[in-house]
Amino acid sequence: MCHTAQTTKLKGNLMAIWISRAPSNIALIKYMGKSEGNIPCNGSLSYTLHKFETEVSLELCRGQDVFEDRMGLGARSVERFLEHLKRLKQLTGCGEFFHVKSRNNFPHSAGIASSASSFAALTICAFNAMGEIQNSTPPSPEEMSRVSRLASGSSCRSFFSPWCFWEGENARKIDIKIDDLMHDLLLVNGGLKAVSSGEAHRLVKSSLLFPERAQRAKIRLEKLMKSMNDGDWSGAHQLCWEEFWDMHALFETSCPSFGYMTADTIAVLSGIRKFWKTRLDGPLTTVDAGCNVHLLWRRDQTELQQRMRETICADMPGVGIL
Ligand code: DP6
Repeated sequence: MCHTAQTTKLKGNLMAIWISRAPSNIALIKYMGKSEGNIPCNGSLSYTLHKFETEVSLELCRGQDVFEDRMGLGARSVERFLEHLKRLKQLTGCGEFFHVKSRNNFPHSAGIASSASSFAALTICAFNAMGEIQNSTPPSPEEMSRVSRLASGSSCRSFFSPWCFWEGENARKIDIKIDDLMHDLLLVNGGLKAVSSGEAHRLVKSSLLFPERAQRAKIRLEKLMKSMNDGDWSGAHQLCWEEFWDMHALFETSCPSFGYMTADTIAVLSGIRKFWKTRLDGPLTTVDAGCNVHLLWRRDQTELQQRMRETICADMPGVGIL
């Protein structure tokens, strides 16, 4: 997490701008299904993606809070941003108004959910700004993470790196032996998401597969940690593969059913399975609530990663890599 503050005096008035950045994260054991206050039905495990960041700036202004929607996020996202700012002001007892700007270092059209990085960045920025205005010490990352969770669950994991475990109200850094991974995002043509993740959390509870979901996720999380710590990469791959299919099976068996994968997602996944089968090695693979495919590689797999990139580009010209 990163925070910088710039304070300048203009025409005798104090004009201050605070700027913070926070990374996105990708879950290998997924958060799906929640209760009030974004309390997850099961523990989740994520890897922090520093290459996808959101930068938020807060500038003091008069009259009312304003969010400048430079990325075309839409009315609902702007509303969520301002609601969270209001929550942060209430918590800190801050009576000032702010002009909020937010910017991602990844294309909005890429279909990467930016709520994790943007709410984490807003939380960090607001706590730092309000702390400075009120001459008080900002809270710990643990406390910031709990407050950020109230805006968007997955954002609470962006405070800890490289690995984060989140259960109940608390997210924390967790030590896993393999901790320096390379990430590829395979961008598949998909169009706009028909079902928001907030809606997905609600709908999955209607699936007959849901009652045992928390237990399956728990077992998988324990096994995945063990595989990673024992250096059993292919075991870890198998668990990640099962886990994202488990979440997508919940979507497809909900009432009404819904889904995010496209024909191209399936084609990419078949290609990855074939790659693993022939080489007995490959990337950890996961698919979030979207149609894109995330790959994680160990540092010593750069040659294999390059081979996979060439294969995907040759076989599926429509698929981009970020
Ligand atoms: C599919 O954090 O977007 O990415 O708490 O309603 O904001 P809200 O949901 P959100 O859920 C994303 C869930 C997921 C899986 C994951 O990140 O664990």
